Amino acid sequence: MRRKSSADIKGLKGKMPIVCLTAYTAPIARAIDDVGDLLLVGDSLGMVLYDYENTLPVTVDQMIEHSKSVVKASKKSCVIVDLPFGSYEESVDKAFMNAARVMKETNCNGVKLEGGQSMFNTIKYLTSRSVPVMGHIGLQPQSVLLDGGYKVKGKNKFDWQKYIDDALAVEEGGAFSVVLEGMAEPLAAEITSILKIPTIGIGASPKCDGQILVTEDMLGLTNVAPKFVKKYTNLDKLIKNSASQYAQDVRNRVFPGSEHTYEMNAQIIKNKGND
Ligand code: KIV
Repeated sequence: MRRKSSADIKGLKGKMPIVCLTAYTAPIARAIDDVGDLLLVGDSLGMVLYDYENTLPVTVDQMIEHSKSVVKASKKSCVIVDLPFGSYEESVDKAFMNAARVMKETNCNGVKLEGGQSMFNTIKYLTSRSVPVMGHIGLQPQSVLLDGGYKVKGKNKFDWQKYIDDALAVEEGGAFSVVLEGMAEPLAAEITSILKIPTIGIGASPKCDGQILVTEDMLGLTNVAPKFVKKYTNLDKLIKNSASQYAQDVRNRVFPGSEHTYEMNAQIIKNKGND
């Protein structure tokens, strides 16, 4: 089966809900490649894997190294890579240079960048030069310092037009889909009904064309998970329990057992005995 493309994802609007998850490493990509449609190598990896306070310190080099392993370990999912803060805002040329580098070095299916109307020219520049782009509007984690925190958008109806215009700008720029993050539910539903490209919700609306979660959040591997995260398991507890059992086995000299150790070759034992 061939890997899904950004065009395949675009074509799913109105047909079936689009299942997206983040993946930053080969083991996670391998485990979840079969279950959904799109793997996002999100810059959230800065907070989840590196314990950074926010996503701002993440570099293009980090995104490339993680994305290479995700592409290599997956076969079916469309793999999209976040352009990190500072790699695309300055000029359309810088955005193209970094997007092209990410695509050449990782073999991913496209890039994601944050911003609506302010990023229209950049999205248009990239898409008209063969870079598939996924937009990201509403709560934009790369703007956390400017916003003074992670604030849900569109709670007042008089704010709505700005976000609708952002969504339309992303679509007009040629993006194949757009992430709606941290948005009042009715606003996300309204944007989904207006756009021709699929919306992918996170803390948005069940009416979005697809949903995305940070995989480590829904597996219970992160200690702070926002309200919109549904935890499907508690891997943190499983890991602690398994590590404690291992520690106990080592202390009691139960591990390694004979099934985990290597016998000597009989001939060698005999020769050794003759020495
Ligand atoms: O960085 C990320 O993981 C994201 C998703 C949460 C949409 O942008």
